[in-house]
Amino acid sequence: MDARMQRRVQRYGWDRAADAYEPGWKNSLADAHAETLRLAAARPGERALDLACGTGLISLPLCAAVGPGGHVTATDLSDEMVAAVQRNAVAQGLGNLQAFRADAEHVPTVADGSVDLVTCALGLMYMPDPDRSAAESLRVLRPGGRAVVAVWGERSKCGWADIFPIVDARVKSSVCPLFFRLGTGSTLPQLLQEAGFTGIRTTRLSCTLPYPDADSALEAAFVGGPVALAYNRFDASTRAAAHAEYLASIARYRTSRGYRIPGEFVVCRGTKPRDDSRV
Ligand SMILES: C[S@@+](CC[C@H](N)C(=O)[O-])C[C@H]1O[C@@H](n2cnc3c(N)ncnc32)[C@H](O)[C@@H]1O
Repeated sequence: MDARMQRRVQRYGWDRAADAYEPGWKNSLADAHAETLRLAAARPGERALDLACGTGLISLPLCAAVGPGGHVTATDLSDEMVAAVQRNAVAQGLGNLQAFRADAEHVPTVADGSVDLVTCALGLMYMPDPDRSAAESLRVLRPGGRAVVAVWGERSKCGWADIFPIVDARVKSSVCPLFFRLGTGSTLPQLLQEAGFTGIRTTRLSCTLPYPDADSALEAAFVGGPVALAYNRFDASTRAAAHAEYLASIARYRTSRGYRIPGEFVVCRGTKPRDDSRV
């Protein structure tokens, strides 16, 4: 799939996934989000940029952390996600958020050196050119500012990973071609280092994706995530066959309390050098 098509699949797929995203994934991603926020260590008065912000699970805690004297810019490729983060900020009474649609590889309206902190949680795996997003993060940071990026970890540690080949086989394409590459070995810290970040710290953490029953596991995998666009086009029999195959792939994680699917995240923090002559 070429880069332009990959962006379209992501943009319109996440538009469809927006309503089901938090019910399907918020609990499962809680550890990755907590670690992202811990490494970000946002302080009152700071200016933050949250790339691929989704519904705001990072942006909104950042708004609270930087306080009324600080500011958060939240951007996402999907219009529906941008609408969701705006709605959620209003519902929580947070007035220091600005959100707009933007590709994380190209955020021209955010000026060079204008933010203290960039975050990107569980978004980089969907981008055709993650190096460009890292370069863009470096550009917008002030010298001494930091970026925190979270991605899914090794494929073998993510028990739900068969969702991709199951959907890919039915669309005869690769919906998320680079998905597990960034979480493999030292790929993510290396990417940040090659972009020009220094002082890189990495956390690799295990998690469990809890689903009370098969329906909620299916809803999260097919409706609330990156394959939503492809799935939306499946007819009833294709859906039924894909569901059966996915449930077979996670059957070993079924317990008396529903599904407990293992997962892994990698979270990295890097700093923009104070001497930014390399940039
Ligand atoms: C798994 S969600 C993560 C959302 C949020 N950061 C969180 O941690 O809950 C992935 C998000 O990445 C966004 N996304 C995918 N490709 C993108 C791109 N090239 N630029 C910006 N956002 C992108 C999607 O629209 C979606 O909202």
